[in-house]
Amino acid sequence: MKLDIAVLSGDGIGPEVTSQAIKALKAIAHTFEHTFVFKEGLVGAIAIDETGDPLPEKTLELCSNTDTVLFGSIGAPKYDNDPSAPVRPEQGLLKLRKELGLYANIRPLKAYDTLIEKSPLKREIIEGTDITIYRELTGGIYFGEKKISKDGTVASDLCEYSKPEIERISHLAFKAAQKRRNKVTLVDKANVLESSRLWRKVVTELAAASYPDVELNFLFVDNAAMQLILNPSQFDVILTNNMFGDIISDEASVIGGSIGLLASASVGNRHSMFEPIHGSYPQATGKGIANPIAAILSAAMLLEHFNLMKEAQTINTAVEKALELNLTTPDLNEKNPLTTEKVGDFIARYILNPKDSNVNSENVQLGQSTII
Ligand code: IPM
Ligand code: MN
Repeated sequence: MKLDIAVLSGDGIGPEVTSQAIKALKAIAHTFEHTFVFKEGLVGAIAIDETGDPLPEKTLELCSNTDTVLFGSIGAPKYDNDPSAPVRPEQGLLKLRKELGLYANIRPLKAYDTLIEKSPLKREIIEGTDITIYRELTGGIYFGEKKISKDGTVASDLCEYSKPEIERISHLAFKAAQKRRNKVTLVDKANVLESSRLWRKVVTELAAASYPDVELNFLFVDNAAMQLILNPSQFDVILTNNMFGDIISDEASVIGGSIGLLASASVGNRHSMFEPIHGSYPQATGKGIANPIAAILSAAMLLEHFNLMKEAQTINTAVEKALELNLTTPDLNEKNPLTTEKVGDFIARYILNPKDSNVNSENVQLGQSTII
């Protein structure tokens, strides 16, 4: 298969983790005889510095004309601490999602056996957790009308949803549940918000009409936040709006031991984009300590999106091997960490040569495996 891939590595640790994902994709292209062409574009704070625009027209054009987008991360402290900044890096990402019509953000989350001890939560709580969050991505409070009074003392953000907006992501969530454990939990705040009551009504009707085989549950978001920590294995597919999905997916990442492990896919009818859920982690930039696994797993989700299942599985297996051998960055391995680059090297080389019998923890640490 030939794929043209726009690469928007963005700010902070974005470039260093994205290059590890590209390395993994190149190893896949080599092994399975595909052609992946990578085309770089500017986005975020770096794009503001160079062009004044967090999403230059050229970047949008690039993303519209390639098969898919690989995204790094976005954001810089100088904007976070300046609420009156006229342009912000995040606007680039939000505009990109909107312009490409990426209405569904899919965030899978698993408690890897080899990492259970790394989570701050107890083993018996997180064992067996396997959740996929379906977060609506182009509507709600993120995109509603924003107002600030003339004197700058009163502000509001409108949370608006329409029936078709709710339906299209719900279909994806229910179809995913049918391939998993047949359970969807709608997370909302229907006891308070009109928009959440509309979600309940639309999702209930859609479930009854099209997915009678799927169990549908409801949880208020405050309770869901608690249940995720108390009993995460009760969840299969979580369906929720833009804002709630943003918050609970960061919360849920604690289960897996590190936010540096969580990948995501953003999909629409025509376009798709793959990105780690973590931010730009500016304090870590250039230090070689950022975990590249979320970016690499995002590359696996990209392959899956194009139905390259064996290829995606090959990446997942290589990642699992790295975790099993504890070949990881300091977030998961304080005592004997590898750099971002070395983790990426191991994963790429394992993809190219999975049968190397010298791959064991000791040899890799000593630099004696032929793989690393
Ligand atoms: C995410 C991020 C973004 C969001 C930011 C960077 C705008 O936190 O992808 O989860 O809030 O959607
Ligand atoms: Mn977020």
